[in-house]
Amino acid sequence: MSLFNTVSANANSVANPVWGSRWVFVLAATGSAVGLGNIWKFPYIAGENGGGAFVLMYLFCIVAIGVPIMIAEVMIGRKSATDPVHGMQLLARKANASRFWTLLGAMGVLTGFLILSYYSVVAGWVLAYVFESALGTFKDASAEQVNSFFNDDLLASPLKLVFWHSAFMLMTMIVVARGVNRGIESIIRVIMPILFLLLAVLLGYSFSSGSFDQGFSFLFSFDFSKLSRDGLLIAMGHAFFTLSLGMGSIMVYGAYMPKNLSIGTTVLTIATLDTLVALVAGMVIFPIVFADGLAPGAGPGLLFVTLPVAFGHMPFGGSFFATLFFILVSFAAWSSSISLIEPAMAWLERKGYSRKKLTVGIGFLCWLLGLGSVFSFNIAADYTLFGKTFFDLVDYLTSNILLPLGGLGIAIFAGWVMKRTTVQKELDFKSYALYVAWTLSIRFIAPLAVFVVLIWTLFPEQMKVLLGS
Ligand code: TRP
Repeated sequence: MSLFNTVSANANSVANPVWGSRWVFVLAATGSAVGLGNIWKFPYIAGENGGGAFVLMYLFCIVAIGVPIMIAEVMIGRKSATDPVHGMQLLARKANASRFWTLLGAMGVLTGFLILSYYSVVAGWVLAYVFESALGTFKDASAEQVNSFFNDDLLASPLKLVFWHSAFMLMTMIVVARGVNRGIESIIRVIMPILFLLLAVLLGYSFSSGSFDQGFSFLFSFDFSKLSRDGLLIAMGHAFFTLSLGMGSIMVYGAYMPKNLSIGTTVLTIATLDTLVALVAGMVIFPIVFADGLAPGAGPGLLFVTLPVAFGHMPFGGSFFATLFFILVSFAAWSSSISLIEPAMAWLERKGYSRKKLTVGIGFLCWLLGLGSVFSFNIAADYTLFGKTFFDLVDYLTSNILLPLGGLGIAIFAGWVMKRTTVQKELDFKSYALYVAWTLSIRFIAPLAVFVVLIWTLFPEQMKVLLGS
């Protein structure tokens, strides 16, 4: 199988790019992590699962599972200094382990490709909302009006969805085509600072004109009666998604990381920034929603229906700030989408294809697959498998199965397969206690937690019987 046979010639013929400065790695990885997951998904799952109680479980999952696995993923990437497929092959060989570990890298490449296909469709809605907000579509609109705009005007129109999905795919592939330094790095340097600035401006807006206290206490008053098992499962799945773990995005970015940077400190910075953005996004959204007397538990429609209604009723600057808000979300999605496809690009580039050709080929295939998601909101809405549309199916398969499986593999590889001395040297933790804590998590806590969640997701009924509830 060709997957296995070529670490040699091709792998060495492409020089490994390195980020221009230490900050670029932090910015790029933060750009990957901060995305639709933070601004669209986190607020609505927090809203549906009781606010503060959920936030607490989410923070716990980030610290106990997300951070250790992220450290492992960056470590594997930097040690291998190549794409996830060749990287896993190389490290497995060095550790005298089975060459089937290569499949972990290959699965990551595939997962990223699958995620991007539907991520681009949702990001396309965001682009549409930038224009609609700027045109004042939501000014004084009622909930019914915005709801009908979202469902009957946008989602029901294959043409509009294809247009916006194509636009977003194009944005993504243009950046990736130019390579790591001239493409990803140069765009990251521009959009990440703007992203943080926009977030700060919007926080100020919601602070001054929303129901800030109410929004704040919704997110941070920990009502323990609301802790639930489902909430915990969702929180853990989301910890993976929001940190971009389990498929090689962070691994391939780690491969471009300078050797003299401390992995532990950088990962902590990235995870902290990612969490901050999610929490601040919540602090922007909920006060504005509460100010209009709307409910926080609207589900996926929170960002696309509830929020525009609330912005439209703001006493001043509603359309302007709504436009800024959706620009913010598009930037966040953009810096994530490039990281979803980079593992595939890096792998095939090392196999000898040019980036330009790959961009067209991979971009087209991903766009094509995305059409399946586009049509599952309109003309193909009735075609379902296991009661799920194509969009739901790809989302479920990636978020609930492939990412946890990838994370499990990464934890086992870093914790049990790689040589201890190699790992310790690459991580170079400041204190031995930290190293011990990380080892404990990566060997036992993280794999066990991910395994339980995986089984739970796959066999919910059997688990209920087993636990007698
Ligand atoms: N983390 C991004 C978000 O929150 C999405 C993302 C980018 C991602 N790369 C990933 C998710 C790799 C899982 C794996 O929107």
